[in-house]
Amino acid sequence: MSKSGKTAATAQIQRKHSELKERVNYHNERYHTLDKPEISDYDFDQMFTELLTLESEHNGLDLSDSPTQRVGGDAIAAFKKVDHRLPMISLSNSYSEEDIKEFNARIKKFLRNDSDVEYFAELKLDGLSMELVYEEGQLVRALTRGDGVTGEDVTHNVKTIKSIPLKISHKKLLEVRGEILINKADFVEMNQAYEEAGQMVFANPRNAAAGTIRQLDPKIAASRPLQFFAYALGAYEGITFDSQSDIEDKLAKLKFPVMDRKFTTTTSSEDDLINYYQKINKERSQLPFDIDGIVIKVNPLALQDDLGMVARSPRWATAVKFQPEQAQTVIENIVLQVGRTGAITPVAIMKPVKVGGVTITNATLHNQDEIDRKDIRIGDTVIIQRAGDVIPQVVDVVTSLRPKNSEKFIIASNCPTCGSKVTKEPEEVVLRCHNPFCKSVLIGSLIHFVSRRAMNMEKVGDKLVEAFVEKELVKSFSDLYKLTAKDIQTLDRQGEKSIENILNSIEKSKQTTLAKFIYALGIRFVGEQTAKLLADHYGTIENFMQAEAEELEKVPEIGEKVSATILKWLHDKRMQTEVKTLAKFMTFEAPKRKLEGKLSGMSFLVTGTLPVKRDVAHEKIEENGGKLLSGVSAKLSYLIVGEDPGSKADKAQSVGVKIISWEEFLELIK
Ligand code: IVH
Repeated sequence: MSKSGKTAATAQIQRKHSELKERVNYHNERYHTLDKPEISDYDFDQMFTELLTLESEHNGLDLSDSPTQRVGGDAIAAFKKVDHRLPMISLSNSYSEEDIKEFNARIKKFLRNDSDVEYFAELKLDGLSMELVYEEGQLVRALTRGDGVTGEDVTHNVKTIKSIPLKISHKKLLEVRGEILINKADFVEMNQAYEEAGQMVFANPRNAAAGTIRQLDPKIAASRPLQFFAYALGAYEGITFDSQSDIEDKLAKLKFPVMDRKFTTTTSSEDDLINYYQKINKERSQLPFDIDGIVIKVNPLALQDDLGMVARSPRWATAVKFQPEQAQTVIENIVLQVGRTGAITPVAIMKPVKVGGVTITNATLHNQDEIDRKDIRIGDTVIIQRAGDVIPQVVDVVTSLRPKNSEKFIIASNCPTCGSKVTKEPEEVVLRCHNPFCKSVLIGSLIHFVSRRAMNMEKVGDKLVEAFVEKELVKSFSDLYKLTAKDIQTLDRQGEKSIENILNSIEKSKQTTLAKFIYALGIRFVGEQTAKLLADHYGTIENFMQAEAEELEKVPEIGEKVSATILKWLHDKRMQTEVKTLAKFMTFEAPKRKLEGKLSGMSFLVTGTLPVKRDVAHEKIEENGGKLLSGVSAKLSYLIVGEDPGSKADKAQSVGVKIISWEEFLELIK
């Protein structure tokens, strides 16, 4: 047996391994490349974990093409594998009040103790575990759990998490363990921004956090709202702890984020533990982050030592998970929704049912492949659950309750709104309506156009947009600017005051920036940031309309695929006419960023800790006409490097980008 307890793989295990690799690869591609997952994240995780477990238990398996070695197309080989000083063990799982009683009885029996044992109970955070290694008061390494023995070095990403201290006042070895996660509200906001930019969205906060931590480029982690909560230790020297609660107190003093005490409980009473479990279960949907249970730990470390380990888990702790929030209901109908990109999404309309305190009536069925795989039909009784407590999904069909003459559901070959033919793009699973004048596409595009980050027509809400389109008052973006009080009067329930407000907010929107205007057009892949770069580069809408491939690809962060999509849009005669009409209404304010200055024509990126705040540094660059890039490439003029710079500095060196200090930067603008 090797150090990690592996046994040699038999032919049967090897076959199973090949099969699993193939299945995971297939679903990986659906998810990452085609952006059309066929199975739930949960199912995928199960499959992936099965593969990981198989690989961690057997020697001699061919890992060279295993998806466990890759994530999202980037070889994880890029992450250094580092052994944990102490193995990162996991908790035994249990699922009920009964299990809490058994746990308590087990502990007492083992300790031969009739007197009370103090427990510390806290939330079981649903993120990914992380070990932070501090040496001489510095964060030197952040490791994923990996197989528990060996983790992956993801320091470059973890260092971007603002709540994690880079320096601490304890100067000897300290390994802090805890959970990385994303708050539910941040997750929703983040996904919305991605969706608006026509990009991939994550199914739940845990996936988003895990996906972020395993990115090669730390700028992605820096741009995402990752959180950390400390709840355990690895190795340490020169400090003592006497209980779990003491660990968290002392970590808090060292400026680590720990779980708020209002979410934890310290008690010797079994009833208290059961009440805590039930109370948290009730409140879980109100919590700011996802949890999947509670963790009960024997509080005194001396007792923990006595209790020791059983198999691969500590005897002194247990996770008590919640039943997944599932419910049974009936699909009354399946309707097709048409998004602003023309994507046709089948949505199940169900008999309303409560799941975890929230009434659910519909769930996306994603696409035909998903419908076929689960054989979901109108009239079916189904089990649904809220994935990551947010997005409802159909888990399973109860076929025994299926009505006799039910039929397979097939997505119609014509757009439900405009009737034009729907087709798949090569390598996509989603069907799209390609008619730019389709009412649904139009409504979706208009809703985006008027939204806060785009033209910001505060008083023009989704319902109003729909009404405008239904009454055929608006057939294009520019029609919004031609609306009169009389037009709006024809709609129900629009009083004088509200008409005035609507017209005012449309009028106000004419004063905008080129960046917001470009973003508002809703060109696929052109999110806010890209729109800003395009606006900076082209300066005027006329210039932008005449963009050509070669020039376009010089714009930072625009590659071939995005460039091709933009050009296709710009070359459409109808779009050209529309933009020209629109532009006549607009007055473009100069962006807050200066385009001319000591730094014009130069681009910058900041890495590491500077003597000033990041925002201040960025302002200084833009004030002087410099441009900010978000990654190192040959297009970058200068990389400004502070303390603990990380991988960007290495990359800059390898592509020959000039590296300067903050002081040297200040010289440039003197
Ligand atoms: S304690 C030896 N506390 O659950 C015990 N774990 O199987 C070390 N987790 O992978 C872990 N919340 O990622 C602990 N409050 C909490 C936790 C927690 C979530 C995760 C952790 C670990 C898994 C345990």
